[in-house]
Amino acid sequence: MLEASAEAAVMSFRNLYRMQRYFHFGFRNLYSISYTSPFNMIYLVLFVHHFIINNLYAQTEFLCYTCCNKTKREVAVMKAIMTVNKCFEIDIIDPRIYGSFLEQMGRAVYSGIYEPGHKTADSKGFRNDVKDLVKGLNTTIVRYPGGNYVSGYNWEDSIGPVIDRPARLDLAWKTVESHEVGLHEFMYWANEVGIEVCMAINLGTKGVDDARNIVEYCNHPGGTYWSDLRRKNGAEKPFKIKTWCLGNEMDGPWQIGAKTAEEYGRIAAEAAKVMKLVDPDIELVVCGSSARWMYTFGAWEATVLEHTYEHVDYISLHSYYGNQKNDLPGYLAKSIDMDKFIGSVSAICDYVKATKRSDKTINLSYDEWNVWYHSNENDKKNEPWQKAPPILEDIYNFEDALLFGCLMITLLKNCDRIKIACLAQLINVIAPIMTAKGGAAWQQTTYFPFMQAASHGYGTVLRHNIDVPSYDCEEFKDVPYIEAIAVSNHEKNEIVIFAVNRSLDENAEFSVELQGFSPKNIAEFTEICGHDIKQINTDGKCPVVPVESKAASVKGNSVSATLKPLSWNVVRVAI
Ligand code: AHR
Repeated sequence: MLEASAEAAVMSFRNLYRMQRYFHFGFRNLYSISYTSPFNMIYLVLFVHHFIINNLYAQTEFLCYTCCNKTKREVAVMKAIMTVNKCFEIDIIDPRIYGSFLEQMGRAVYSGIYEPGHKTADSKGFRNDVKDLVKGLNTTIVRYPGGNYVSGYNWEDSIGPVIDRPARLDLAWKTVESHEVGLHEFMYWANEVGIEVCMAINLGTKGVDDARNIVEYCNHPGGTYWSDLRRKNGAEKPFKIKTWCLGNEMDGPWQIGAKTAEEYGRIAAEAAKVMKLVDPDIELVVCGSSARWMYTFGAWEATVLEHTYEHVDYISLHSYYGNQKNDLPGYLAKSIDMDKFIGSVSAICDYVKATKRSDKTINLSYDEWNVWYHSNENDKKNEPWQKAPPILEDIYNFEDALLFGCLMITLLKNCDRIKIACLAQLINVIAPIMTAKGGAAWQQTTYFPFMQAASHGYGTVLRHNIDVPSYDCEEFKDVPYIEAIAVSNHEKNEIVIFAVNRSLDENAEFSVELQGFSPKNIAEFTEICGHDIKQINTDGKCPVVPVESKAASVKGNSVSATLKPLSWNVVRVAI
């Protein structure tokens, strides 16, 4: 409303300015002209007349904006030219870049994926409506069971007959965990939805012994204490979990059992060593900083890698963003922070590589990324020691989906280093999928950019050059109005272009020169645009979804598309 008023005021002023230019006299002249001259009086009458008409027009626009959340104002046009070449590739996308994260907290599990008695529940109590939405999202891997939760996790509490499992205080989220859904139940669910599990171990309150035991339990075929216990508990075949996280955010003072970089580096190295002795096929993610703004960032990575370099495969990055200042251009630019973070951590990995004269490259696991801020105030009021309370339930809007699109593109741009990325999280807790207890499940606005990238973003990411106007905001300079990436999918014979137009009011005439390719036609062009920036999706009403557009074409080896102001776009080009 405020924004709309401001916009109408600006428009009135702009009209007034246009009028004064049109009639070749300045405002000062209004006072200084001779009112006795008939010629000047005609000018004045015309001026006042045009001023009123134009202001009526501006007010109508204002009313139209406030009533229908849309404005009919003229949209200016900018040009953006992107060039790719078949020979210049960034890398092949690791499917785990479309990972997610489900923490044993809030309503992620209880009344999220699991709700016995729900009308869609399967024989084990898992909601089929949720399973369908998870399958539709196309996420490939899910990190479990935390998060902060894992740093106090006794994994043995979560196995064996449910009736014998202890309820415990979860000190991370100040709740009570019943363990009704434990390790086997989660593995069952992941198998049902067809996604791989990335398991995190507890390096907060636990250590090396626990690390080797859980790998033996999950991955060893049989004939030993822990593997036979798994079989006794109903899983004859090993779970064969390939990707493991060595704790969670161990640099954070909020973490149960937080450590210095030296302390963590040593325990992570020893845990990694024994885990790989039990199963040499696993891959390990060591904890990097829990945010780029941590005061130990940089030094933490270098020290931890100093200790663990030969034993681990990836280092983690975590980032959450928010529009706390309600500054849309600044908010949409925050993917630049993610890009800088990736660049810095890659550089630190390579610094340690150089000092060790190693041939091994440590890659990155962005295993927590998302928008998280809407629920912060509400969560402060939460009563402790409830079971599965509704915490961290951010409700996402259209502007969040746009930043989210920029973040997805940033991950793809860096797919030579980012091999794993987990959208944090998956259900109810800062999630693309929401559920009502006993009711429906639905897709938040952020569901769709993820779904589209995870459905079509396979193959090789192409290097590009982009010529596009940019803007400055409080935190960043030269923010390009268009954030875009092109992926060449050899198997499907298509180039897929993902693009966000950050401009508030300008269409972009976007052309992509596909050097070395022979584009045939546009297979599909969808866009999410035209919504009020605060528009949300709710139970039963999901307006923020991709819709088809016809505004794209192929000519020679170029693809042209109109990218509307504030839009997320996916162009699939048959080649
Ligand atoms: O995803 C929510 C929390 O954010 C995780 O538990 C923690 O790792 C991070 O601080």
